[in-house]
Amino acid sequence: MANIKFYSQEQIPLEMHKVKTITKLNLIPIEDRLKAMKEAGSNTFLLKNRDIYLDMLTDSGVNAMSDRQQSAMMIADDAYAGSQTFYRLKDKLKEIFGMDYFLPAHQGRACENILCAKLVGEGCVVPMNYHFTTTRSHIVRNGGSVVELIIDEGLNPESDYPFKGNFNLEKLENIIQQYGKDRIPFVRIEAGTNLIGGQPLSLENIKAVSKICKEHGILSMMDASLLQDNLYFIKTREEACKDMTIREITKEISDHLDIIYFSARKLGFGRGGGIILKDKALYESMMELIPLFEGFMTYGGMSVREMEAITVGLDETMDIDMISHGPQFIEYIARELCERNIPVITPAGGLGVHLNAMKIADHLPQNQYPAGALASALYIVSGIRGMERGTMSEDRDENGKEKMSDMELVRLAFPRRVFTLSQAKYAVDRISWLYDNKELIGGLEYEYEPRVMRFFLGTLNPIGDWQEKLVEKFREDFGDSL
Ligand code: F0G
Repeated sequence: MANIKFYSQEQIPLEMHKVKTITKLNLIPIEDRLKAMKEAGSNTFLLKNRDIYLDMLTDSGVNAMSDRQQSAMMIADDAYAGSQTFYRLKDKLKEIFGMDYFLPAHQGRACENILCAKLVGEGCVVPMNYHFTTTRSHIVRNGGSVVELIIDEGLNPESDYPFKGNFNLEKLENIIQQYGKDRIPFVRIEAGTNLIGGQPLSLENIKAVSKICKEHGILSMMDASLLQDNLYFIKTREEACKDMTIREITKEISDHLDIIYFSARKLGFGRGGGIILKDKALYESMMELIPLFEGFMTYGGMSVREMEAITVGLDETMDIDMISHGPQFIEYIARELCERNIPVITPAGGLGVHLNAMKIADHLPQNQYPAGALASALYIVSGIRGMERGTMSEDRDENGKEKMSDMELVRLAFPRRVFTLSQAKYAVDRISWLYDNKELIGGLEYEYEPRVMRFFLGTLNPIGDWQEKLVEKFREDFGDSL
């Protein structure tokens, strides 16, 4: 976050890294993109990477590694048991978060499996600011349910509140009164709240939640998968923290919590995951599940090379220059789209730019999946792959009824240190064209609909021939351009 002002007054994000290795990209013609979209059942998850120009599906496991990470991978200590690599990662976690105990796991949802298998039982209720798809599935699978306590601003796409991921503390108190501490195994605090647009919590709110947990003898647990962006926002938006270093903020957060788990596909620029905690007895009670589900205790399903990369990646996460790339590019794209009156979640969060499909495709009812339709339209007109985060990402209720999502978003994730400013400008350009032709976007209906997390593998059909019409209009306006 070097403070560099432009003579021209222009506000653009400036990278504090250079590119040393590249991957060639393809932009296939729109007719081929239409064909690819049809073969993928209008579900961007099912596209093949070779047909994609900018992959903005996710920032999970696709962030660029640094030279330091790559070189650390070369010295990984190959051993099934007792690898030095594991102890380097464990020590780094202790150095940064100050927690003594570490359970390795192959990714974030694997941590959720372990935590929920141990802590969640029939009739349990887990309060949280907002759910994440895999988290809720694990809690429900173990007989529990989720209560969301996000502040009202969190669900208002246009609110300019800086910490839209905050808990409503009064609601948290009420839920504890209502269910009692015995039915609440833990309170889950999701950093960088994913499904509402990568929105952060303030340090003040995290501390207040932890205080309430302590008063009632309930465990406080953070899902730190998106902590990287949240740290940047605490530093840049929270007045009381502006003079703290990222390390100091991180330590202050973890001092207030009992358990932290994370997907290292996001936090740490690698691929893996882990649970860190303070309580020895709790650690020992979960330890037996690691060899059962993940692998031996000194790798937990991760490759030693990835563990080395995560160790360095965590260190880089403490460097504001390294973690400002994502939020600053996301802010740039969001600002450009706002200037063109295109509805996006504001203020820009972490993780990605979130298009508000509820508004952009307001002619489509929610049961025709406006966000899914917008994501498929955007791929067709640009080769950019985003992700639906709306009703398609909800499962039906036990009676088979659609559960309408609070928001209909298309997420354009911004893998860290991967894309350039001209690519960001291309995205803005094609989104603008699509917005000007938004009435052409039609609905979708499921053809194959899995019962759980249907958005991953489900296939859909467009209602009518709107996808072909979109291609026709593109050709009219862009001639023979790709
Ligand atoms: N928690 C949060 C907040 C996440 O964003 C994710 C993953 C997980 C848990 C699960 O971690 O994928 O390593 O098993 N989010 C990815 C995404 C999938 O694209 O947002 P995982």
